[in-house]
Amino acid sequence: MNLTVCIGSSCHLKGSRIVVERLENLIQTHGLKDKIDLRGSFCTGNCQTGVSATLDGVYYSLTPENTERFFIEKLLPRVAEKTGE
Ligand code: FES
Repeated sequence: MNLTVCIGSSCHLKGSRIVVERLENLIQTHGLKDKIDLRGSFCTGNCQTGVSATLDGVYYSLTPENTERFFIEKLLPRVAEKTGE
């Protein structure tokens, strides 16, 4: 599954580096390294809404504070759905 986080300058100022670090940690902790392809992307044109992220093409607006909730509420169920676990 593809997870991209914008590392453009506006998202960088909103904490994209912290968001990426938190996602990396969460992916590691949940043993999902081989299931999630985490990448940085350039500006996606959604600079005003927060740190832009896409999960399999679906757009989400992240902040360092809501990253863990996103992971638990959006990402984990998708992983479960895809892998049938
Ligand atoms: S800098 Fe991230 S959407 Fe523009």
